Amino acid sequence: MRTGIIGGRLGYRLLGWLGERTRHKDWCSGANYRDCSKLEALFGPGIWSRLRGKVVIDLGCGIGAEAIEAAQHGAKTVIGIDIRPKVLEAARAAAAAAGVSDRCVFSTHTDERADVILSIDALEHYDDPEQALVMMRRLVADDGLVLIAFGPPWFHPLGGHLFSVFPWAHLIFTEAALIRWRSDFKSDGATRFSEVEGGLNGMTVSRAHRLIEKSVFTIESFEPVPIKRVRRIARWLPREFFTSIVRCALIPAGARQAGREFVGSAAPGRRVITAGSMRNR
Ligand SMILES: C[S@@+](CC[C@H](N)C(=O)[O-])C[C@H]1O[C@@H](n2cnc3c(N)ncnc32)[C@H](O)[C@@H]1O
Repeated sequence: MRTGIIGGRLGYRLLGWLGERTRHKDWCSGANYRDCSKLEALFGPGIWSRLRGKVVIDLGCGIGAEAIEAAQHGAKTVIGIDIRPKVLEAARAAAAAAGVSDRCVFSTHTDERADVILSIDALEHYDDPEQALVMMRRLVADDGLVLIAFGPPWFHPLGGHLFSVFPWAHLIFTEAALIRWRSDFKSDGATRFSEVEGGLNGMTVSRAHRLIEKSVFTIESFEPVPIKRVRRIARWLPREFFTSIVRCALIPAGARQAGREFVGSAAPGRRVITAGSMRNR
Protein backbone atom coordinates (compact mmCIF):
# COMPACT_ATOMS: atom_id res chain seq x y z
CA MET A 1 0.00 0.00 0.00
CA ARG A 2 1.26 3.48 -0.86
CA THR A 3 2.43 5.70 1.99
CA GLY A 4 3.98 9.12 2.29
CA ILE A 5 7.27 10.89 2.34
CA ILE A 6 7.66 12.43 5.78
CA GLY A 7 9.53 9.91 7.87
CA GLY A 8 12.47 9.53 10.20
CA ARG A 9 12.84 11.56 13.35
CA LEU A 10 10.98 14.54 11.89
CA GLY A 11 7.93 12.44 11.00
CA TYR A 12 7.91 10.73 14.37
CA ARG A 13 8.17 13.99 16.28
CA LEU A 14 5.46 15.69 14.25
CA LEU A 15 3.16 12.74 14.83
CA GLY A 16 3.82 12.82 18.55
CA TRP A 17 2.77 16.43 18.56
CA LEU A 18 -0.20 16.20 16.18
CA GLY A 19 -1.47 12.78 17.15
CA GLU A 20 -2.21 13.34 20.81
CA ARG A 21 -5.99 13.25 20.36
CA THR A 22 -6.17 10.47 17.78
CA ARG A 23 -4.24 7.99 19.89
CA HIS A 24 -7.15 7.73 22.31
CA LYS A 25 -9.79 7.09 19.66
CA ASP A 26 -11.33 3.63 19.49
CA TRP A 27 -12.00 2.86 15.84
CA CYS A 28 -14.15 -0.17 16.66
CA SER A 29 -16.47 1.58 19.09
CA GLY A 30 -19.25 2.30 16.58
CA ALA A 31 -19.32 5.87 17.91
CA ASN A 32 -20.46 7.26 14.54
CA TYR A 33 -23.73 5.36 14.92
CA ARG A 34 -24.44 6.11 18.57
CA ASP A 35 -27.93 7.49 17.95
CA CYS A 36 -29.10 5.01 15.38
CA SER A 37 -28.85 1.44 14.24
CA LYS A 38 -25.70 0.95 12.19
CA LEU A 39 -27.28 -1.87 10.19
CA GLU A 40 -30.31 0.25 9.38
CA ALA A 41 -28.21 3.32 8.56
CA LEU A 42 -26.11 1.25 6.16
CA PHE A 43 -28.72 -0.95 4.53
CA GLY A 44 -32.03 0.81 5.14
CA PRO A 45 -35.03 -0.37 7.19
CA GLY A 46 -35.55 -3.28 4.77
CA ILE A 47 -32.60 -5.01 6.42
CA TRP A 48 -34.76 -6.40 9.20
CA SER A 49 -37.07 -8.37 6.96
CA ARG A 50 -33.95 -9.69 5.20
CA LEU A 51 -32.64 -11.08 8.47
CA ARG A 52 -35.83 -12.27 10.12
CA GLY A 53 -35.90 -16.04 10.62
CA LYS A 54 -32.49 -16.39 8.93
CA VAL A 55 -29.18 -17.89 9.94
CA VAL A 56 -26.77 -14.98 9.83
CA ILE A 57 -22.98 -14.84 10.02
CA ASP A 58 -21.32 -11.54 10.93
CA LEU A 59 -17.73 -11.84 9.71
CA GLY A 60 -15.52 -9.44 11.65
CA CYS A 61 -18.18 -8.84 14.29
CA GLY A 62 -15.99 -6.91 16.76
CA ILE A 63 -17.82 -6.43 20.03
CA GLY A 64 -21.00 -7.85 18.51
CA ALA A 65 -23.34 -4.85 18.37
CA GLU A 66 -24.71 -5.69 14.91
CA ALA A 67 -24.94 -9.43 15.59
CA ILE A 68 -26.94 -8.72 18.74
CA GLU A 69 -29.17 -6.28 16.92
CA ALA A 70 -29.83 -8.84 14.20
CA ALA A 71 -30.84 -11.38 16.86
CA GLN A 72 -33.07 -8.81 18.55
CA HIS A 73 -34.80 -8.18 15.22
CA GLY A 74 -35.69 -11.82 14.77
CA ALA A 75 -32.75 -13.54 13.10
CA LYS A 76 -32.96 -17.24 13.87
CA THR A 77 -29.30 -17.59 14.81
CA VAL A 78 -26.42 -15.17 14.51
CA ILE A 79 -22.84 -16.34 14.48
CA GLY A 80 -20.36 -13.56 15.11
CA ILE A 81 -16.85 -14.35 13.90
CA ASP A 82 -13.74 -12.40 14.78
CA ILE A 83 -10.01 -13.11 15.08
CA ARG A 84 -9.68 -11.29 18.41
CA PRO A 85 -10.64 -13.32 21.50
CA LYS A 86 -10.84 -10.13 23.54
CA VAL A 87 -13.68 -8.63 21.48
CA LEU A 88 -15.45 -12.00 21.31
CA GLU A 89 -15.51 -12.06 25.10
CA ALA A 90 -17.03 -8.59 25.17
CA ALA A 91 -19.57 -9.66 22.52
CA ARG A 92 -20.64 -12.69 24.57
CA ALA A 93 -21.13 -10.54 27.64
CA ALA A 94 -23.15 -8.00 25.62
CA ALA A 95 -25.33 -10.77 24.15
CA ALA A 96 -26.00 -12.12 27.65
CA ALA A 97 -26.90 -8.64 28.88
CA ALA A 98 -29.25 -8.20 25.92
CA GLY A 99 -30.88 -11.57 26.61
CA VAL A 100 -30.02 -13.10 23.21
CA SER A 101 -27.25 -15.55 24.16
CA ASP A 102 -29.44 -18.46 23.04
CA ARG A 103 -29.52 -17.14 19.44
CA CYS A 104 -26.24 -15.28 19.24
CA VAL A 105 -22.90 -17.08 19.45
CA PHE A 106 -19.41 -15.72 19.00
CA SER A 107 -16.37 -17.64 17.85
CA THR A 108 -13.14 -17.44 15.88
CA HIS A 109 -14.55 -19.78 13.23
CA THR A 110 -17.62 -21.62 12.05
CA ASP A 111 -18.52 -24.35 9.57
CA GLU A 112 -22.21 -23.58 9.68
CA ARG A 113 -23.85 -22.31 6.50
CA ALA A 114 -25.77 -19.07 6.62
CA ASP A 115 -28.62 -17.50 4.68
CA VAL A 116 -27.05 -14.07 5.06
CA ILE A 117 -23.46 -13.04 5.67
CA LEU A 118 -22.75 -9.57 6.97
CA SER A 119 -19.36 -7.93 6.76
CA ILE A 120 -19.51 -4.53 8.40
CA ASP A 121 -16.47 -2.28 8.46
CA ALA A 122 -14.28 -5.34 8.15
CA LEU A 123 -13.23 -5.66 4.48
CA GLU A 124 -10.49 -3.08 5.03
CA HIS A 125 -9.24 -5.12 8.01
CA TYR A 126 -9.07 -8.72 6.75
CA ASP A 127 -5.46 -9.81 6.30
CA ASP A 128 -6.46 -11.57 3.05
CA PRO A 129 -9.69 -10.06 1.71
CA GLU A 130 -9.62 -12.31 -1.36
CA GLN A 131 -9.64 -15.38 0.86
CA ALA A 132 -12.34 -13.82 3.02
CA LEU A 133 -14.59 -13.73 -0.06
CA VAL A 134 -13.77 -17.38 -0.78
CA MET A 135 -14.70 -18.19 2.80
CA MET A 136 -17.94 -16.23 2.52
CA ARG A 137 -18.90 -18.29 -0.52
CA ARG A 138 -18.16 -21.51 1.36
CA LEU A 139 -20.34 -20.36 4.25
CA VAL A 140 -23.30 -18.85 2.43
CA ALA A 141 -26.19 -20.91 1.09
CA ASP A 142 -26.50 -21.19 -2.69
CA ASP A 143 -29.53 -18.92 -2.59
CA GLY A 144 -28.06 -16.73 0.14
CA LEU A 145 -26.97 -13.12 0.29
CA VAL A 146 -23.76 -11.34 1.32
CA LEU A 147 -23.99 -7.74 2.48
CA ILE A 148 -20.71 -5.87 2.76
CA ALA A 149 -20.22 -2.32 3.97
CA PHE A 150 -16.81 -0.93 4.69
CA GLY A 151 -15.20 2.40 5.24
CA PRO A 152 -13.56 4.74 5.32
CA PRO A 153 -11.64 3.44 2.28
CA TRP A 154 -7.89 4.01 2.20
CA PHE A 155 -7.86 7.30 0.25
CA HIS A 156 -10.63 8.90 2.34
CA PRO A 157 -9.25 11.74 4.54
CA LEU A 158 -9.50 9.39 7.54
CA GLY A 159 -8.88 6.17 5.60
CA GLY A 160 -5.79 5.40 7.65
CA HIS A 161 -8.05 4.95 10.69
CA LEU A 162 -5.85 5.52 13.74
CA PHE A 163 -3.04 6.71 11.46
CA SER A 164 -5.10 9.61 10.08
CA VAL A 165 -4.02 12.02 12.78
CA PHE A 166 -5.26 14.74 10.42
CA PRO A 167 -6.91 14.35 7.01
CA TRP A 168 -4.74 12.20 4.72
CA ALA A 169 -1.89 12.09 7.26
CA HIS A 170 -1.55 8.35 6.55
CA LEU A 171 -0.65 9.25 2.95
CA ILE A 172 1.79 11.99 3.93
CA PHE A 173 3.87 10.22 6.60
CA THR A 174 5.84 7.04 5.97
CA GLU A 175 4.56 3.74 7.29
CA ALA A 176 7.68 3.45 9.47
CA ALA A 177 7.08 6.83 11.14
CA LEU A 178 3.40 6.09 11.72
CA ILE A 179 4.14 2.66 13.17
CA ARG A 180 6.87 4.06 15.40
CA TRP A 181 4.46 6.73 16.70
CA ARG A 182 1.81 4.06 17.34
CA SER A 183 4.25 1.80 19.22
CA ASP A 184 4.50 4.50 21.90
CA PHE A 185 1.00 3.61 23.09
CA LYS A 186 0.16 0.19 21.56
CA SER A 187 2.10 -2.87 22.53
CA ASP A 188 1.07 -5.50 19.95
CA GLY A 189 4.50 -5.35 18.29
CA ALA A 190 3.16 -4.37 14.86
CA THR A 191 5.85 -3.34 12.38
CA ARG A 192 3.51 -2.74 9.43
CA PHE A 193 -0.07 -1.51 8.96
CA SER A 194 -1.13 -5.07 8.17
CA GLU A 195 0.10 -6.24 11.58
CA VAL A 196 -1.85 -3.82 13.76
CA GLU A 197 -4.41 -5.37 16.06
CA GLY A 198 -7.53 -6.15 14.00
CA GLY A 199 -5.62 -5.62 10.72
CA LEU A 200 -5.54 -2.81 8.15
CA ASN A 201 -5.04 -3.65 4.48
CA GLY A 202 -5.31 -0.31 2.67
CA MET A 203 -8.55 -1.21 0.88
CA THR A 204 -9.58 1.26 -1.80
CA VAL A 205 -12.88 1.54 -3.66
CA SER A 206 -11.40 0.22 -6.90
CA ARG A 207 -9.52 -2.62 -5.26
CA ALA A 208 -12.67 -3.73 -3.47
CA HIS A 209 -14.57 -3.71 -6.74
CA ARG A 210 -11.82 -5.64 -8.55
CA LEU A 211 -11.65 -8.25 -5.78
CA ILE A 212 -15.38 -8.74 -5.72
CA GLU A 213 -15.67 -8.77 -9.49
CA LYS A 214 -13.23 -11.63 -9.84
CA SER A 215 -14.71 -13.51 -6.87
CA VAL A 216 -17.28 -16.27 -7.03
CA PHE A 217 -20.08 -13.78 -6.45
CA THR A 218 -22.34 -11.86 -8.75
CA ILE A 219 -22.56 -8.18 -7.86
CA GLU A 220 -26.13 -7.15 -7.26
CA SER A 221 -25.12 -3.67 -6.29
CA PHE A 222 -21.91 -1.83 -5.48
CA GLU A 223 -22.37 1.64 -4.06
CA PRO A 224 -19.60 4.06 -3.13
CA VAL A 225 -21.39 6.54 -0.86
CA PRO A 226 -19.85 10.04 -0.99
CA ILE A 227 -18.85 11.96 2.13
CA LYS A 228 -21.97 13.77 3.34
CA ARG A 229 -20.51 17.26 3.15
CA VAL A 230 -19.55 16.95 -0.49
CA ARG A 231 -22.53 14.90 -1.62
CA ARG A 232 -23.90 17.63 -3.89
CA ILE A 233 -20.68 17.99 -5.83
CA ALA A 234 -19.47 14.41 -5.46
CA ARG A 235 -19.81 13.62 -9.13
CA TRP A 236 -17.02 16.11 -9.90
CA LEU A 237 -14.65 14.87 -7.21
CA PRO A 238 -12.28 11.90 -7.41
CA ARG A 239 -14.30 9.01 -6.04
CA GLU A 240 -11.38 7.38 -4.22
CA PHE A 241 -10.76 10.46 -2.08
CA PHE A 242 -14.35 11.38 -1.27
CA THR A 243 -16.14 8.08 -0.66
CA SER A 244 -17.11 7.58 2.97
CA ILE A 245 -18.34 4.02 2.75
CA VAL A 246 -18.80 1.37 0.15
CA ARG A 247 -21.66 -0.99 0.44
CA CYS A 248 -22.60 -3.86 -1.75
CA ALA A 249 -24.88 -6.82 -2.07
CA LEU A 250 -23.55 -10.05 -3.55
CA ILE A 251 -25.14 -13.33 -4.47
CA PRO A 252 -23.39 -16.60 -5.29
CA ALA A 253 -22.50 -16.66 -8.98
CA GLY A 254 -25.00 -18.65 -10.96
CA ALA A 255 -27.66 -18.40 -8.27
CA ARG A 256 -31.01 -17.28 -9.58
CA GLN A 257 -32.79 -15.07 -7.11
CA ALA A 258 -36.08 -13.68 -8.23
CA GLY A 259 -37.48 -10.40 -6.91
CA ARG A 260 -34.35 -9.35 -5.08
CA GLU A 261 -33.86 -5.65 -4.56
CA PHE A 262 -30.99 -3.84 -2.90
CA VAL A 263 -31.76 -2.96 0.68
CA GLY A 264 -29.99 0.41 0.68
CA SER A 265 -31.92 3.63 0.21
CA ALA A 266 -31.13 6.08 -2.55
CA ALA A 267 -30.06 9.58 -1.52
CA PRO A 268 -28.83 12.61 -3.47
CA GLY A 269 -25.34 12.10 -4.83
CA ARG A 270 -25.31 8.36 -4.31
CA ARG A 271 -24.41 6.18 -7.19
CA VAL A 272 -25.46 2.60 -7.26
CA ILE A 273 -23.35 0.57 -9.60
CA THR A 274 -24.90 -2.65 -10.68
CA ALA A 275 -23.18 -5.67 -12.12
CA GLY A 276 -20.96 -4.91 -15.09
CA SER A 277 -21.50 -1.15 -15.25
CA MET A 278 -18.26 -0.25 -13.48
CA ARG A 279 -16.03 -1.61 -16.19
CA ASN A 280 -17.08 1.23 -18.47
CA ARG A 281 -16.19 3.99 -16.05
C1 LIG B 1 -13.50 -2.07 12.59
S1 LIG B 1 -13.89 -3.56 13.36
C2 LIG B 1 -15.61 -3.70 12.93
C3 LIG B 1 -16.40 -4.44 13.95
C4 LIG B 1 -17.92 -4.48 13.70
N1 LIG B 1 -18.23 -5.23 12.51
C5 LIG B 1 -18.47 -3.10 13.61
O1 LIG B 1 -18.95 -2.73 12.54
O2 LIG B 1 -18.43 -2.37 14.61
C6 LIG B 1 -13.18 -4.81 12.26
C7 LIG B 1 -13.15 -6.19 12.88
O3 LIG B 1 -12.71 -7.16 11.93
C8 LIG B 1 -11.96 -8.13 12.62
N2 LIG B 1 -11.17 -8.93 11.68
C9 LIG B 1 -10.03 -8.57 11.05
N3 LIG B 1 -9.61 -9.57 10.26
C10 LIG B 1 -10.51 -10.58 10.39
C11 LIG B 1 -10.61 -11.88 9.83
N4 LIG B 1 -9.70 -12.34 8.96
N5 LIG B 1 -11.65 -12.66 10.21
C12 LIG B 1 -12.57 -12.20 11.08
N6 LIG B 1 -12.51 -10.98 11.65
C13 LIG B 1 -11.50 -10.17 11.31
C14 LIG B 1 -11.15 -7.31 13.61
O4 LIG B 1 -10.64 -8.06 14.65
C15 LIG B 1 -12.17 -6.26 14.05
O5 LIG B 1 -12.84 -6.65 15.21
